[in-house]
Amino acid sequence: MYAIDHNDLGTPAAASGEPVTLEIDGSTVTVPAGTSVMRAAALAGGRIPKLCATDNLKAFGSCRLCLVEIEGRKGFPASCTTEVAAGMKVRTQSPRLQTLRRSVVELYVSDHPLDCDECPANGHCELQDAAAELGVEGSRYADGGATQRGVAQDASNPYFVFNPDLCIVCSRCVRACDEVQGTLALTIEGRGFGSRVSASQHQTFLESECVSCGACVEACPTAALTEKLPIALGAPTKAVTTTCGYCGVGCSLKAEVKDETVVRMVPNRAGTANKGHACVKGRFAFGYATHADRVRKPMIRKRITDPWREVSWDEAIGYAAAEFKRIQKKYGPNSVGGITSSRCTNEETFLVQKLVRAALGTNNVDTCARVCHSATGYGLKHTLGESAGTQAFTSVMKADVIFVIGANPTDGHPVFASQLKRRLRQGAKLIVLDPRAIDLVRTPHIEAAVHLQLLPGTNVAVINALAHVIVTEGLANDAYAEERCEVDTYRKWKAFVSQAKNSPEAMEATSGVPAALVRQAARLYAAGPNSAIYYGLGVTEHSQGTTMVMGIANLAMATGMLGREGVGVSPLRGQNNVQGSCDMGSFPHEFSGYRHVSDGPTRSLFEAAWNAKLASEPGLRIPNMFDAALDGSFRGLYIQGEDFVQSDPNTNHVVAALSAMECVVVQDLFLIETARYAHVFLPGSTFLEKDGTFTNAERRISRVRKVMEPLAGLADWEVTMQLAQALGYPMHYSHPSEIMEEIARLTPTFHGVTYEKLERLGSIQWPCNDAAPEGTPTMHVGSFVRGKGKFYLTEYVATSERSTSRFPLLLTTGRVLYQYNVGTQTRRTSNLAWQAEDRLDIHPDDAEDRGIKDGDWVGVTSRAGDMVLRAVVSKRMTPGVVYTTFHFPESGVNLVTTENSDWATNCPEYKVTAVEVVRVGQPEAWQARIRAERSAQRSPALPTT
Ligand code: SF4
Ligand code: SF4
Ligand code: SF4
Ligand code: FES
Repeated sequence: MYAIDHNDLGTPAAASGEPVTLEIDGSTVTVPAGTSVMRAAALAGGRIPKLCATDNLKAFGSCRLCLVEIEGRKGFPASCTTEVAAGMKVRTQSPRLQTLRRSVVELYVSDHPLDCDECPANGHCELQDAAAELGVEGSRYADGGATQRGVAQDASNPYFVFNPDLCIVCSRCVRACDEVQGTLALTIEGRGFGSRVSASQHQTFLESECVSCGACVEACPTAALTEKLPIALGAPTKAVTTTCGYCGVGCSLKAEVKDETVVRMVPNRAGTANKGHACVKGRFAFGYATHADRVRKPMIRKRITDPWREVSWDEAIGYAAAEFKRIQKKYGPNSVGGITSSRCTNEETFLVQKLVRAALGTNNVDTCARVCHSATGYGLKHTLGESAGTQAFTSVMKADVIFVIGANPTDGHPVFASQLKRRLRQGAKLIVLDPRAIDLVRTPHIEAAVHLQLLPGTNVAVINALAHVIVTEGLANDAYAEERCEVDTYRKWKAFVSQAKNSPEAMEATSGVPAALVRQAARLYAAGPNSAIYYGLGVTEHSQGTTMVMGIANLAMATGMLGREGVGVSPLRGQNNVQGSCDMGSFPHEFSGYRHVSDGPTRSLFEAAWNAKLASEPGLRIPNMFDAALDGSFRGLYIQGEDFVQSDPNTNHVVAALSAMECVVVQDLFLIETARYAHVFLPGSTFLEKDGTFTNAERRISRVRKVMEPLAGLADWEVTMQLAQALGYPMHYSHPSEIMEEIARLTPTFHGVTYEKLERLGSIQWPCNDAAPEGTPTMHVGSFVRGKGKFYLTEYVATSERSTSRFPLLLTTGRVLYQYNVGTQTRRTSNLAWQAEDRLDIHPDDAEDRGIKDGDWVGVTSRAGDMVLRAVVSKRMTPGVVYTTFHFPESGVNLVTTENSDWATNCPEYKVTAVEVVRVGQPEAWQARIRAERSAQRSPALPTT
């Protein structure tokens, strides 16, 4: 319901069959073989009434409303389940068909209230449309059988309600849950008039396996499944197509708006990354954008112990600029820096790094990607030649073997996970390398062929063991590797992985993975014929994060699993624009397009374009900025959209560094934890309040379009422009499209990108230039970007963080579906109904040893610090390993994580911390202190809700 421009063709497009020509109502139509008569009629401009069919679900043929007459065939076949045939002659309208269809609708109406004027779906209900079209105003069969009436509504889900009275049991919701989402949470129980939709085992939607993706709501032709917000706020009056601001899948969404208020987000069926699907975050969790906690006025204070003072934009920006200039005059140009945000647009990120390099005259710029996928950038650039994933998401539909390493797609990248599960249900094999039994290991109709449940910190041991089997059992694709890669590095690598020390048997004690399982996985991966690797932060956030990325690339090159659809190496990027923030030159050593600052011709290009002298030495990375702050040489920081204090490891160290600075400028939506150490607060804008682009995990650049005016008056890119102006470096852009023109001029992989082309194509996967004017879905086709692929030796080096008698358990971290990163946004939505705190998963054996029961409060101590949270006793864990998420500041996970980091990129080792866990009482005192500190930070002008 409420769909504004949904042109539903009734059944999905046929694969790509031979053209078939037929006649429908006297007109000649040509469509691919396998197309339904219903779809063919719709493509020809006709319309056959329907109820149980919709074009993102397989035809089901249950309602019998779509009957047609076909010359030479008996009876009245259902057009949704009848495929076209050459020479077929179809009639979609006749008096007889009208009579039959009217009877069908009368039957439905007999079991359905006719108070349409009162119904939230009034004007948007397919049953109402069918009744009107066929002139049905009542039913001869009314009260003829048992009805749904009297069955209570289920309003347990925070975002939608199920009203059985309005259900016509068309099963579209059940099929959407199965086919689109892949959760299989719904069934139809009972028969005839007594049949009804049921969630899991007679549970409410909230209690059931339902993950609140909304696919069933979208599929429902009546108001039986209805969103709550449009009921409360009224029907939308316009729709704006934009891109989700949450994760790296980058779903295209239509924001439906009434009076500047978003009333719902509809997944865009034309969206290339999501094809009409979304998850609970993008679909429903947008309420944070107008939450009362949004800071709407700039604020300043001289010391971080002073109360905040609301000021005008001019005063706040003027103060920040004056402070940066004062600091640079006193301590030198490199005493300040800036941080770009992976939540902001490409254009905004580009401006922040430009401000730092050109206006502040230093390369001290870094990004939050430092703490997630910096190892991906380094590892893939050195082996394959480009710092990005190799495939489009759709490539997974051609994979025969899917290898998921250190990623949990059903929670972290849910819409991609739905596609991946579809492929697995079609028969692709799954290998999972993860210390935890993530959902994919066993979920309805899916079971991993092999789960390599390794100990945290031993990824490289396992990848070497896999390579050992592939090489020593003769499973490598020598012809491919020797033609496409540097032969000497390939041979050296083969000799290295063949060593006995890298065998699965030798590595078994280290990794905890039985050698036989490693051998099974290696054989499966090498056999393919199409094997694809998808990996996440469980690869990168290690002291050997870069080594593991290189190990993955080695494995793919050695087996020839690169350069075509169905294979590849795909990092699953966490935040919406983490790929983009890296592409835009956010790292201290690189300009946009990953070109080193020491490269003379590149620097000259930027110097000419920006009319500024640029530094040739790389600047400081985030951890180096903190260290320099503590030794007194780094004094000022401009942070756009990043909450260091919650997200970075070893919180005590971060807090000490921020406290040592003289001017910290935080630009964000809310008074985040880091703002407690800020001197200037500049209100940020959500993705709904600006124009721009995001780049998702498949290098897909998609438009972000303004849906409402910025609550604080300025979009983030406008704030950065004003700060540059105040620093004496004016920037002149009247729209983000002009920033993109500059990016395209200065960045070879973006040369062909324009807003006009994005409008025309919907989205573009970079590289987009003269060689690939419409973008590049699959990379490294024919040859690698670096020319020849390069193998690196990946010696396993155990992390210094190991379990000891004092800290006998290993803590690893991850995400949940309902919360997003540091939770700033999702904690301010009804997603709290599912998860309102971080919890510690602990294996039953470890729990029993410590007298811990499910739900107990437990204290977790490492050499860096301690935290208190509630325990979940779970067999998902392997003994000796505990797990938690990091979405809630109250739990203080990063008080416990250490300063260990990746050797190449300083990506923190979040995934391995040696800890001890003990049962404790209620942590009231501890939580009270956190709450008191927070409330002391609030602006007097802010509401207290
Ligand atoms: S809830 Fe909606 S989609 Fe599901 S069976 Fe009922 S009418 Fe059909
Ligand atoms: S919201 Fe999604 S997961 Fe829940 S029942 Fe509907 S389709 Fe299934
Ligand atoms: S999968 Fe990611 S991009 Fe898509 S709706 Fe969910 S959070 Fe947004
Ligand atoms: S739409 Fe064809 S049988 Fe329901």
